[in-house]
Amino acid sequence: MEVKRTQTKIDTILVLDFGGQYCHLIGGRIREQEIYSEIVPHDISPKDIELLKEKFNVKGVILSGGSGSTYEQDISKLDPKILESGVPVLSLCCAHQILTQPNDGKVKRVNCKEYGITCVTVNAQVGVLKGLKNKEKVWMNKSDGICDLPNSFEPLAHTDDGLIAAFMHKNKPVYGLQWHPEVIHTENGTQVLQNFMFNVCKCQANWRMEVLIEKMVQEIKTEVGEGRAIIGLSGGIDSSVSTVLAARALNEKLTAVYVDHGFMREGETLAIRETFSKFKINFIVVEAQERFMKKLEGVTDPECKRKTIGEEFIRVFEEEAMKSGAQYLIQGTIYPDIIESGFSKNSKNIKSHHNVGGLPEKIGFKKILEPLRELYKDEVRKVAKMLDLPKERVNRQPFPGPGLAVRIIGLLTEEKVRIVKRSDKIVREEIEKTDLAEKLWQYFTIVTDTKATGAKDDTRIYGYVVAIRAVESREAMTASVAKISYDTLEKISTRITSEIPEVTHVVYDITHKPPATIEWE
Ligand code: XMP
Repeated sequence: MEVKRTQTKIDTILVLDFGGQYCHLIGGRIREQEIYSEIVPHDISPKDIELLKEKFNVKGVILSGGSGSTYEQDISKLDPKILESGVPVLSLCCAHQILTQPNDGKVKRVNCKEYGITCVTVNAQVGVLKGLKNKEKVWMNKSDGICDLPNSFEPLAHTDDGLIAAFMHKNKPVYGLQWHPEVIHTENGTQVLQNFMFNVCKCQANWRMEVLIEKMVQEIKTEVGEGRAIIGLSGGIDSSVSTVLAARALNEKLTAVYVDHGFMREGETLAIRETFSKFKINFIVVEAQERFMKKLEGVTDPECKRKTIGEEFIRVFEEEAMKSGAQYLIQGTIYPDIIESGFSKNSKNIKSHHNVGGLPEKIGFKKILEPLRELYKDEVRKVAKMLDLPKERVNRQPFPGPGLAVRIIGLLTEEKVRIVKRSDKIVREEIEKTDLAEKLWQYFTIVTDTKATGAKDDTRIYGYVVAIRAVESREAMTASVAKISYDTLEKISTRITSEIPEVTHVVYDITHKPPATIEWE
C-alpha cells in the first residue's frame, strides 16, 4: 500500500487524559473526522505542550472526563496557563467543573448518580452547540453538577433539575459540557465535536488511516528488531488485524498461534484454518481442550475463570515460543480491553479481559507488543478493510478470548459447554436469517446456573435456563438491548427447547450496558 506522507505539520487536537472510561474514545471520534489526536496526561505542563507544538499543529485541547468526582480525586490539577494560552479548550463531564472550581464555580453533589441518556435544554445554540435543538438527548454519567458559574462564564444549557450542563467563557474559546459528545447515545455528539474541531479550532481534515497503519508496522519492526515473535491469533478481528500487521513487519520471523481451548463456537476452528491457510503466514493450531478444562475444574468465580484462562493462554504461548525461538508475544489487545481491566491510570477494574488483567505476573517473554492498544473496534474494522482481510473476518461478531467459558455461569461442565455451543449456533442461524445481523454488535446465549421445572414428552424435567443476549453498540463501551421481534425470539426459544433436551426455559436479557456488561461473566 502506498503511504501518503504529509510534509507540513498535521492539525492536531490534544486530549488531556483525566482517567475517564471514554478518554480514548474521544481520540477515536476525532480521528474519524480525519484529524489527528494525541492523548496526553492531564497534568502535562505548558512547556511540554510547546514541545508537542514543534511536531504537531496543535489547534485545540479537549479535557476528558475523570473517573471520580472532583471531591474525591486529586487529579484535577490542570495548569491554568493551558487555559490562558489562547488555544481553544473543550472540557467534558466532571473535567469542566475543574475549569470553574478555581474561579469559585460551585459544584453541587447530586445524590442519585445520573447514568445514561438524559434530556438537556440548550438555551444558546452558539459555539460548540451550534445547530443543536432546544431539547437534546445526551449521555451523562455524573455525580456532580454545576449550580453556579463565576462571572467570566456564561451558561449555555441546563438539566431538568436546574444544573448547568454547558457553558462558555465570555472572552476565550473555552467551552464545558457536562455530557459526553463522544458516546454514540448522545444524539448530536458528532455535531458538537465537529463544531469544536472545524468552527472553533479551524482544523483542516488532513490525517489519514494509512499513517496509523505505517506507524504500527514500524513500531513492531523496531521493537522486535532481529528477534522473532509469536502472535496469539483467535480469529477475531483484533488478533486477525494484528497478525496481518505483524506479518508485514516481520515476515517469516512471525508465528501465528491459534489455541483451541475447547470454548470456541461450533465450526470456528475449521473456519479459522480456512481463512489463514490462504495467507502467507506461519500458522499453527494448538489443541488444548483438555488442559484448559482441567485447569478450570472447580472454578466458579468469573474473575478467577478469566485469570485461569489468561494464564493458561500464556503457558501455551511460552511453549510455542520455545519451539520457534520467539522472544516477543504480540496480542490483539484494543483499548476497551485495557480500560475495562482497570489498567488505565485512574480507571476502575470492571472485568479482567483475558489478555490484560488475566495475564499472570511472571511471563517468559522479553516483551508483549499490542499494536492496536489505542484503537476502538470500529477503527480496527476500518484498518481490517484497508488490509484486505476477508469480509467474514471484518464483519465477524466480537468474541471474548475466554470464549464460551464466560457464557457459562458457575462450574464448567461438558454438558454446559455442549448446551452453550448448540444454543449459540441456533441464535446465530435465526438472527442471520433476518436483516438484524448486520445491525447487531453481538448475539449469543448464556447457560445460567439456574434450573427450572419443565415438561417434555409428558414428563417433568428440571432443566437449564438459557438466556439470549443481543446488543447494539459501536465500540462496546456502552450497548443497548437489540429490539428483536417476538417472532424471532419465539423461533429461537422453540428451537432451543426442542433441540436441546436439557433446556426447559429460555429468557431474553433486556439490560443495557451500563449498568450491565455485555458478557455475563
Ligand atoms: P463486556 O462484557 O465487558 O464486553 O461489556 C465488552 C466487549 O469485550 C468483549 N470481551 C472480551 N474480549 N477478551 C476479549 O478479547 C476478554 O476477556 C473479553 N471479555 C469481554 C465482549 O465480548 C464485548 O464485545
